[in-house]
Amino acid sequence: MAEKSVEQLTENEAAAELERLAREIAHHDRLYYNQDAPEITDAAYDALRQRNLAIEQRFPHLVRENSPSRQVGIAVSGKFDKITHAVPMLSLDNAFSDEDVRDFAARVRRFLRMNADDELALTAEPKIDGLSLSLRYEKGRLVSAATRGDGQTGENVTANARTVADIPRVLAGDVPDIVEMRGEVYMTHADFQALNARQAEAGKQIYVNPRNTAAGSLRQLDASITASRPLHFFAYAWGEMSAMPADTQMEMVAWMQSIGFKVNPLMRLFTDIDELIAHYHDIEAQRGALGYDIDGVVYKVDSLELQSRLGFVSRSPRWAIAHKFPAEQAMTRLNAIDIQVGRTGALTPVARLEPVTVGGVVVTNATLHNAEEIERLGIMIGDTVIVQRAGDVIPQVLGFVEGRRPADAEKFEFPTVCPCPLKTPIVREETAGGAEGVIRRCSGEFACPFQRKEHLKLFVSRRAFDIEGLGDKQIEYFYDDADLQIRTPADIFTLEARDRANGLKRLKNRDGYGEVSAQKLFDAIEARRTISLERLIYALGIRHVGETTSKTLARAYGTWAAFEAAALAIAQGDVEATDEMDALDDIGPAVVEAVGRYFGEEHNRAMVEALVAELTVLEAERPAADSPVAGKTIVFTGSLERMSRDEAKAMAESLGAKAAGSVSKKTDLVVAGPGAGSKLAKATELGIEVISEDEWFTLIGR
Ligand code: IVH
Repeated sequence: MAEKSVEQLTENEAAAELERLAREIAHHDRLYYNQDAPEITDAAYDALRQRNLAIEQRFPHLVRENSPSRQVGIAVSGKFDKITHAVPMLSLDNAFSDEDVRDFAARVRRFLRMNADDELALTAEPKIDGLSLSLRYEKGRLVSAATRGDGQTGENVTANARTVADIPRVLAGDVPDIVEMRGEVYMTHADFQALNARQAEAGKQIYVNPRNTAAGSLRQLDASITASRPLHFFAYAWGEMSAMPADTQMEMVAWMQSIGFKVNPLMRLFTDIDELIAHYHDIEAQRGALGYDIDGVVYKVDSLELQSRLGFVSRSPRWAIAHKFPAEQAMTRLNAIDIQVGRTGALTPVARLEPVTVGGVVVTNATLHNAEEIERLGIMIGDTVIVQRAGDVIPQVLGFVEGRRPADAEKFEFPTVCPCPLKTPIVREETAGGAEGVIRRCSGEFACPFQRKEHLKLFVSRRAFDIEGLGDKQIEYFYDDADLQIRTPADIFTLEARDRANGLKRLKNRDGYGEVSAQKLFDAIEARRTISLERLIYALGIRHVGETTSKTLARAYGTWAAFEAAALAIAQGDVEATDEMDALDDIGPAVVEAVGRYFGEEHNRAMVEALVAELTVLEAERPAADSPVAGKTIVFTGSLERMSRDEAKAMAESLGAKAAGSVSKKTDLVVAGPGAGSKLAKATELGIEVISEDEWFTLIGR
């Protein structure tokens, strides 16, 4: 029997369910910890805990005294328990130049009394900028996870570590009775930015960098919050081991991988110090493209025998050193704060900085997220601010230098009207709870030239009309052009005709264009005059209507005429049309409301009508009915090895299935690759069928 989703539970059902879950989880805990004989899979166990937490989140007043969420390393007092490390967690000595590295190698050789021609093998691997974690496995099962703390004693974050997909709960293969694996928990840039965007939208704390966020996420008292944050783990060291499976660092890392850990792919072995240093510069050059923060390269003596001979000085090993990258923070003057208007009218303050080089890149702008963030930082215009750039993360202002505030520093007042020429009032939306939200929006919508420009940029973008030669830059150019003005999407399709009437001012006679390039642009526009329904719907820029939703709408309505009729009916409050759209898979009330609002606006209707008059809109493809996945909703999660995510989605769609981004009770099938996390857990919780990538290919007969 399918379980009721948490959203559907009544209060009484929730209370009963919490009691059942507490009993069930306690039962499995006993089997797992005391008897070493679990009867359910880890995923099923995680699903129970997650369901428990989800219910508690919805009904906080029902949280039980003996709730599983209050146990296993989650101290009720609001503090974590302490764990004393069986083997202390050390720090590393630093090298800041190539010379320092040569000195390190020379010191090692001297200490070991090696001859000049004796070979010294050193490993080199990225120094991950996250937080270190020690994972203790007994008889192959994860029993505890501890942060580094002061090196001797750390915090017990076991429940949280269990929610990290890269951390195996059971080791693969035959492993020693006691295995302590150590490594770094980190967050990718992409996940960090997405999280901060969500935090900003919800008016919550903005994190400074991925490291800080990973630490904050792991040290949550509520493990369900950790579970909702995408954390990763690289293993690179060990603590107590009841037996050693290898004699060298390289072999140890290969072994870690074989028992189920992720290890960093950039680790190499060198016997030549110049090559080792070359690898450092190689990694440094790749730094921005890795997708996660690293702050240097760690070198280790490869032989474990030599490591033990070398031993430690105070709290760092003599056999390892961290070669740090140059700092990626700098100080510069905050010249101004500008307001940027996004496509939906959201106003974002941007710091305009005196150009400064940070980590090899000249930085002139940094995002300030929202007014609350400016308040929190306490910055004033004219201040000397500290700017940080981490990898390809957008530069951030960390704070200002106290002693350097000029007498004429100015406090920034958040405007009350949009900076656009219309000066429309700024509104603050209410949050779900009825409080004033942090997002300030221009109320001008399509009348606001800034929003129009952003809408035009969306309109021509790759996933919408995809017009070659017409990108952000050209939209800026044509928007204000006296003779070839593009102010609405329809203007794009009349560009060539209007150009012909322009005589000497024709595009081909202008700077930056010639006969050929002007014609190329017109041809590219012409090529898109015939467009799929889903692209058209997406390109309209209706709030909450992204690519997937557009696809769903296109498939459901089939033709532009049918979609438009439904949208207009919804705008007029037609209940039947509203319910019909609301009933579509993956479409909720927010989308329906947004569609209604959009088509309820006179100028939007005029804009759309003029556009559609220029186009031939294709009918949406009907799903193929005879494939085994036709009509099914499929979610791909984890890393896929035989195809890219985009390819997987396209494949599913070509077979008449729908590829969704998140797991819900409407999901029919989940295809999970390695590293699948919360979506997989959700699928298990909901009892949805989960298959591997290989099984997917078998299923569709390829
Ligand atoms: S080895 C006995 N390898 O750097 C030495 N540490 O500054 C054990 N770190 O506390 C550490 N990446 O948190 C090692 N590839 C790596 C590392 C690494 C990051 C961190 C670790 C350690 C700190 C020392």
